[in-house]
Amino acid sequence: HDHIISAKQLSRSDIEEVLDRAAEIARDPTAFRQRHPGALLGLLFFEPSTRTKMSFSASIKRLGGDIVDMGPVEYSSVKKGESLADTVRVVEGYADALVLRHPMEGSAKMASEFVDVPLINGGDGAGQHPTQTLLDLYTIRENAGLDDLSIGIMGDLKYGRTVHSLAHALTNFDASQHFISPESLRLPRNVRYDLHEEGATIREHTALDTVLDSLDVLYVTRIQEERFPEESEYRKVAGEYRIDAETLESTRDDLTVLHPLPRVDEIDHDVDATSHAQYFQQAHNGVPVRMALLDLVLGGESA
Ligand code: CP
Repeated sequence: HDHIISAKQLSRSDIEEVLDRAAEIARDPTAFRQRHPGALLGLLFFEPSTRTKMSFSASIKRLGGDIVDMGPVEYSSVKKGESLADTVRVVEGYADALVLRHPMEGSAKMASEFVDVPLINGGDGAGQHPTQTLLDLYTIRENAGLDDLSIGIMGDLKYGRTVHSLAHALTNFDASQHFISPESLRLPRNVRYDLHEEGATIREHTALDTVLDSLDVLYVTRIQEERFPEESEYRKVAGEYRIDAETLESTRDDLTVLHPLPRVDEIDHDVDATSHAQYFQQAHNGVPVRMALLDLVLGGESA
């Protein structure tokens, strides 16, 4: 079985296979209903989640299966000191596939080495979030297309796992990537190195206004105040990385604004009513995309 750990493992044809199947599901939501009757998806969430957890739950149920949910960490035997390795070894006996979200970077890779059922990384610390990337790519493809793409990725590029995953996946396409952040939150050196190795076209900026007009897509992420050593340092940079309807007033009409969500204040609510805002649709796309992924992981071809 294939584990889904990192966007780095996904080729262009892997991505297109998931996205095409997701599009088929989105066109006819009844098409894949009951395709996997009785399939069980184990949910192991060691960090909070609304979208990833609930859209995986909805997806397996739409496919005719069900969830086995560890529930909050404090009510599980993790509280008694059980290791992640032991936890996944036990839970693989209860489910046909597992989704793991964990605060430690590298945790999904490590856990996958202890199990035979497919393990899907639902976010590992500041590492990777490959299923978010698939729904991001789906949404970008629907709105702007994935080739000849100019995308701005703004906010916390240092710790943002959705950013690290998306940037890697975009190297499979003809995309110019513009990274917009304060100096202190630049992409980590190892991510920049990998992107260069992949031959990606990347540029780094500290201000949005220098690049905004050239973008097809602006992907906004939350600046994580809790990561700054001094609140005053955060205050210095936070305002420059917020957008509102006025920021977008003179830009291209067809600019698509995305955000993995949750947002705090980096996209003003007055953007929601503009034609740019696609972030709620993006979150909704999590269901067809995760249905498509689960169908493939559970053996969709032979079903
Ligand atoms: N985008 C995302 O992963 O959201 P949740 O943390 O709510 O799952």
